[in-house]
Amino acid sequence: MDWGIKNRISRIIKPASGRAVMLAVDHGYFMGPTTGLEQLGDAVSPLLPYADTLMLTRGALRYFIDPAVDIPITLRVSGGTSILNPQLLHEGNICSIEDAIRLNASCVAFSILVGAEYERDTILEFTRVVDQARSFGIPSLCVTAVGRDMVRDARYMALASRMGAELGADIIKTYFVEGFEKVVETCPVPVVIAGGKKIPERDALKMAHDAIAAGAVGVDMGRNIFQAENPVAMIQAVRAVVHDNVSADDAFNHYESLKAEIAAHA
Ligand code: 5RP
Repeated sequence: MDWGIKNRISRIIKPASGRAVMLAVDHGYFMGPTTGLEQLGDAVSPLLPYADTLMLTRGALRYFIDPAVDIPITLRVSGGTSILNPQLLHEGNICSIEDAIRLNASCVAFSILVGAEYERDTILEFTRVVDQARSFGIPSLCVTAVGRDMVRDARYMALASRMGAELGADIIKTYFVEGFEKVVETCPVPVVIAGGKKIPERDALKMAHDAIAAGAVGVDMGRNIFQAENPVAMIQAVRAVVHDNVSADDAFNHYESLKAEIAAHA
């Protein structure tokens, strides 16, 4: 693997723990002003000290994030459909490699939709992006997106994740499912999990814990952090699970005590 790609990956997946807390705030590219991100800059700013990378769109980066901030950027470069479109996730490339370089992206993220009618479009476009990014030493993260009618199970996630890796991804983002070991064991590149829709904090911490125990290198989590009752406490609890192997119960207790501490100082 090229030195530049390795170097950029090591800015995201921290060599000390081999793990990563990726903060996903890219939702606006298909969901518009998502709950919790209406004022994206204000929402993200207190979370940055606890994130290993920020995953977002070029617009969010330019409009809401101070360029002086010291955080690697995972740039969302696929899109093209909104949450209102029945063909949601029929995505193509929405950002050139030149613009990704201009924005100093450490990684580019692209969603493929395996098993849907238009899977071929998303896959071919993904491989074009991989080739362009690779020629500049930029790694690619493949999001194994799941369409509305698709089953979320280990067999499907393993298939989509392995495909993403064999098509050229350096990191896979997928969904946590029962039997997640199968997904990780059959995928030759590091795997992170998406958070998905907001669930209770305790459950989200357990999901992160179980994913790490199954071999994931981290999380690329959005709504379960920024929609938490206390996002700053939540990202620190997630961090404890990911980097310090803290149990789900201990992480939840940590969350509760941080929440109380923050409230006491408010
Ligand atoms: C969808 C995505 C999202 O844009 C986002 O990053 C997901 O984050 P979360 O589900 O944790 O809110 O990648 O495929």
